[in-house]
Amino acid sequence: MYNQRTKIKALLSSEATHFQTTVMGWVRSFRNNQFIALNDGSTNNNLQVVVELGMLDESNLKRITIGACIRASGELLPSMGKGQKVELKASAIEILGDSDAETFPIQPKRHSLEFLRENAHLRFRTNTFGAVFRVRHALAFAIHQFFNSKGFVYMHTPVITGSDAEGAGEMFRVTTLPIDGSAPRNEDGSINFKSDFFGRSTNLTVSGQLEGELAAMAFSEIYTFGPTFRAENSNTPRHLAEFWMIEPEMAFYDLEDNANLAEEFIKYIIRYATEYCSEDLAFLAQRLEEEEKALPQEKRSGMGLLEKLDFVVKNHFERITYTQAIDILRESNHNKKKKFQYPIDQWGIDLQSEHERYLVEKHFQKPVILTNYPAKIKAFYMRLDENCPPDRQTVAAMDILAPGIGEIVGGSQREERMDHLLRRMREMHIPEKELWWYLDTRRFGSCVHSGFGLGFERLVQFVTGMNNIRDVIAFPRYPGNAEF
Ligand code: 4AD
Ligand code: MG
Repeated sequence: MYNQRTKIKALLSSEATHFQTTVMGWVRSFRNNQFIALNDGSTNNNLQVVVELGMLDESNLKRITIGACIRASGELLPSMGKGQKVELKASAIEILGDSDAETFPIQPKRHSLEFLRENAHLRFRTNTFGAVFRVRHALAFAIHQFFNSKGFVYMHTPVITGSDAEGAGEMFRVTTLPIDGSAPRNEDGSINFKSDFFGRSTNLTVSGQLEGELAAMAFSEIYTFGPTFRAENSNTPRHLAEFWMIEPEMAFYDLEDNANLAEEFIKYIIRYATEYCSEDLAFLAQRLEEEEKALPQEKRSGMGLLEKLDFVVKNHFERITYTQAIDILRESNHNKKKKFQYPIDQWGIDLQSEHERYLVEKHFQKPVILTNYPAKIKAFYMRLDENCPPDRQTVAAMDILAPGIGEIVGGSQREERMDHLLRRMREMHIPEKELWWYLDTRRFGSCVHSGFGLGFERLVQFVTGMNNIRDVIAFPRYPGNAEF
């Protein structure tokens, strides 16, 4: 058996000392030919491995370089040195994998996040990314725990689909047809997908919602958690071309039930992270504080990371309608002084991220659930509100906006009435024939139902305080980049 080792996290929190143990990990630094800071990814804290003078010959000492992988065995002892309770007094050290200190890109100094993005294959070996990805893991686990405890069924919806769930046309095509112009064509010159792999045109999914709705019409409460893809050319710190989304879908929930679940859900997973990732979050809070010191006063968030998370867990999310939001924005000094790039002049416009951020960061200073958006700017499946003025038709949509991030959740009560749904689909040029199976749910036992989608990376950004979404997913995909 090879894997006979104790994780460094366990040793560092050990009450007992004076026992023999073995660790394996990667060298973070080596001081005075004597003190190795060893990390195995179980925690950001390194174990100090003490190499007795004369224990290793000169050539082996030289091999203990930053990035090298080693195995060390010895006795765990109380540490005399500052900064750690215990240390390992090595009796044997074996170099498992050498690392050339000259060419290893991660040096014991502060690297920029941009540099580390270019070295994403090695950035897990830094404190920042160690913390980010352990927190990401904990959040994913908490999400499953939350839904499992409520009896939701986890559905794996397809990654390859023939439909456009959002009707926005931002899809990556999936095909095995030749791209050299020799693909078979129809009489009108368009590509004939009958001879393609699936016998039809297919794409990577933008959302598992439509399939999720089918399952909710049997299990009553389901959720998806999987990768989704958007071919939108958005080069922003909040957009990815490949991101993970959590999409619960619930029969017998109206918009208010939906908002209640979303608020409870977000608070639950944040509370979980603050409880189980306190060390990593403390590190990230410190990192953010230092990063913010370099910013001008007005760009600083004002609240520390831990305070912010605590605040979100302890306070009610503000709930207002789109119409109320437009009134607040229109009357704001910010708008009157023409400080918005997109001025708020009329009801019906889509909100830009500057507007969303004004609402959450300046006006309410807490998360906001915005509901009842104009039908024209929302997807075809959202339920039409009743008794609207004819020129102000709204739908039962709900977006949750978070400080520093903007939109973190998008959802709605679904249109369960066949006649209304068909009318909306025709208005918005959604092909009915392709969605026959979706329409069947409205034919056979339709009911009031709702759901939402939480962008997982935006949540990880919120919890870790990382500014750029490209730094909270292991290998980000965005326009012009699919390295690794
Ligand atoms: O608002 P969206 O487009 O909603 C849907 O896809 C619905 N089908 C969800 C549902 O009701 N089941 O996306 C939902 C969330 C957004 O609020 C945002 O957090 C995230 O997904 N998101 C992105 N995250 C990263 N990069 C992108 N390009 C994103 N687009 C959306
Ligand atoms: Mg949205």
